[in-house]
Amino acid sequence: MGFFITFEGVEGCGKTTQIRQLYDRLTKSGYRVMLTREPGGCLIADKIRSILLDAENKGMQSLTELLLYAAARAQHVAEVIMPALASGAVVLCDRFSDATIAYQHNGRGIERTTIDDLNTLACQSLRPDLTVLIDCDAALGLARAKSRIEAASGPREERFELEQLSFHQRVRDGYLQLAAAEPDRFLTVSAGGTIAEISGVIATQVLNRLTLKQATCLTGMFSAKTPEIVSDTQKDTARAVR
Ligand SMILES: Nc1ncnc2c1ncn2[C@@H]1O[C@H](COP(=O)(O)OP(=O)(O)OP(=O)(O)O)[C@@H](O)[C@H]1O
Ligand SMILES: [Mg+2]
Repeated sequence: MGFFITFEGVEGCGKTTQIRQLYDRLTKSGYRVMLTREPGGCLIADKIRSILLDAENKGMQSLTELLLYAAARAQHVAEVIMPALASGAVVLCDRFSDATIAYQHNGRGIERTTIDDLNTLACQSLRPDLTVLIDCDAALGLARAKSRIEAASGPREERFELEQLSFHQRVRDGYLQLAAAEPDRFLTVSAGGTIAEISGVIATQVLNRLTLKQATCLTGMFSAKTPEIVSDTQKDTARAVR
């Protein structure tokens, strides 16, 4: 199996900025890396993404939202993440199952057991080896996300950005609780530094863990000489990661 790293945090905390930096760093270091995102990451899940993030869908029920995330994740895990990990790649995913706990449990108030059951089902019990939580003041993150949306072309994926600040504060608290409960899996970094400072911290920690894994891995699955497995569709998705 490869190594599965997820990036989490409130809107605008810097996930996409940092995951791209890590992708470049690991690729340059010779690792075979696949960059993907949720919701989305493959054709069917990207269609679900457009429903989930469309600000026009104001009437969406919390349960509908939860089930759409689970459906998109089930497809993404089976079609993209599991095969990539089975081939030995390092998989970087921009948001994953912890986001569903922070947003749909802490944010929306759906029972945690319901979310855990759905996550287990959709993920086929797959869990990240490492989760990078970029901890950010919710108001700061929202301001960053909104200015990025204003500056960008394409669809305005901002249904969550339009939620109250208190919603985003609950999401942040939810993430911090998850990190406190699993300190070995989570790497929590403050969003307060410069992009270069944050990426330096993340790269050091990730490279340490990969080296450790490599040292205990008999198959040499992270060899830089193994062929590139990223398909054209996945490359397009990686480019589209926002
Ligand atoms: N450390 C930082 N300092 C200042 N600005 C930053 C920093 N990191 C990211 N930004 C800027 O903040 C904006 C949001 O960053 P980014 O898109 O990476 O966040 P995100 O967590 O992926 O957001 P979303 O949850 O909406 O996908 C971008 O314009 C980015 O350039
Ligand atoms: Mg992003």
